[in-house]
Amino acid sequence: MSNILVTGGAGFIGSTMIRHIINHTDNSVVNVDKLTYASNRSSLNSIGDSERYSFAQVDICDASKFSQVLNYYQPTAIMHLAAETHVDRSIDGPENFIQTNIVGTFNLLKTVKSYWNGLPEPMKKSFRFHHISTDEVYGDLKDPDRFFTEETPYAPSSPYSASKAASDHLVRAWYRTYSFPIIITNCSNNYGPGQVPEKLIPLVISNALDGLKLPIYGAGDQVRDWLYVEDHARALYKVLVAGVVGETYNIGGQNEKKNIDVVKMICALLDELVPLNQASYANQITHVSDRPGHDLRYAIDATKIKRELGWEPVETFETGLRKTVEWYIANRAWCKEVKSKLESNIGG
Ligand code: NAD
Ligand code: DAU
Repeated sequence: MSNILVTGGAGFIGSTMIRHIINHTDNSVVNVDKLTYASNRSSLNSIGDSERYSFAQVDICDASKFSQVLNYYQPTAIMHLAAETHVDRSIDGPENFIQTNIVGTFNLLKTVKSYWNGLPEPMKKSFRFHHISTDEVYGDLKDPDRFFTEETPYAPSSPYSASKAASDHLVRAWYRTYSFPIIITNCSNNYGPGQVPEKLIPLVISNALDGLKLPIYGAGDQVRDWLYVEDHARALYKVLVAGVVGETYNIGGQNEKKNIDVVKMICALLDELVPLNQASYANQITHVSDRPGHDLRYAIDATKIKRELGWEPVETFETGLRKTVEWYIANRAWCKEVKSKLESNIGG
C-alpha cells in the first residue's frame, strides 16, 4: 500500500484523481492545496471521511511548509497537479502563473529531492514524482494530418502554456542531472462534472441554463481533443504505477471537435433534457472577440500509453458529454455558488 501526495487535489482533475484512488485502490492520499478560487472541496465530500484521506492547506510556493508536510506524511509518491490553469486569466495577469507553475514546481523539486535523498533504499527506489502537464506546451497544429507525439518540439503560445512548458523542462532537468525519479504526462482538454464554469463546456452549459449568452471566440472553428476527466484519472494512475521513470506519456481522447460543434452538441442535449418553450438554446450562441494568440488545433497521438500501458478511454464524447450536461442540470446550486465565487474571486 502506498501513500500518495496529490498537489492541487481540490481542483477539477485533482479531486477526480483522489476519488479514483480512494474508491478503486487501497492507497492513502494526502491532498496539498492552497484553495484558490479554482478549488472546490465539496468535490471531495464523498471520500472526505475516509481514514485513508488527509488534507493540508499549503501553497506549493512555501518550501518550508511543504517540507513539513513531506516529513509528517512520508509519502511514497507525488502526483503534482497544482497549477493556475485558465488561459484567459494568464493573458490578463500572468504573475500567478509564473509563481505557481514555475516557482512552485521548482520548490517541489527542491524539497522533494531532499526528502527523497533521505529515504531508505527500497522506498527511494520505488519513489515517483509524477508531473501532470498539458498538450498546450506543443503549441498549435497547422497541418490537419499531424498529431502531438512525445517527440513534438515545445512551442507554447500563451503565458499559461509557457509556464507549464517551463515546469516540464525543470522536471526533466531534475531527472537528467540528479536521477530524480520523475514521470511526465501531457494531456488534452478535460471535461466532466465539477469543472469550474469559466472553461468552455461548463460555462456554456451553465450560461445556457441561466438564459445568458454562449460566447464563442471568433468563428469557433478552433479544434480541441476532448477527454472525459475520469478517463484522465485512470490514465494517470496507470502511469504512476506502471510508467517508466524519465519517460513522457501523452494522453488524449482521439476526440477532435470544433468549438462551435461542441457548443451545438451541448445545446441539442439541453433542448432534449430541459426543453425551452418552442426555442433552442442555440439561439443564445454569440460570437465574441477572439482570444489573443488563440491556438487553432490540438490533437494528441496517444499510441504510446495505449501500447505500453494498455490504457484506453472508456467514455466516448457522446456518453461523456451527456453525463456532464446531466450533472450540471442536477447541480445548478453548486454552479450558482461557484459563479458568484468567480465574480468575487474568493478562495475555496
Ligand atoms: P484547476 O484549476 O481545476 O485546479 C487547480 C488546483 O490547484 C486548485 O484546487 C487550486 O487551489 C490548486 N492550486 C493552485 N495554485 C496552488 C498553489 N500555489 N499551491 C497549492 N495549490 C494550488 O486545475 P485542473 O483543470 O484540475 O488541472 C490540474 C492539472 O492538470 C494542472 O496542472 C493543469 O495544467 C493540468 N491539465 C489540465 C487540463 C484541463 O483540461 N483542465 C488538461 C491537461 C492538463
Ligand atoms: O489542452 C489542455 C488545456 O485545456 C489545459 O491545459 C488548460 O488548463 C485548460 O484550461 C484547457 O485550455 P483551453 O484554452 O483549450 O480551454 P478553454 O475551456 O478555456 O477553451 C476551450 C476552447 O474554447 C478554446 O479554443 C477557447 C474557446 N472558448 C473558451 C471560452 C472560455 C470560447 O470560444 N469561449 C469561451 O468563453
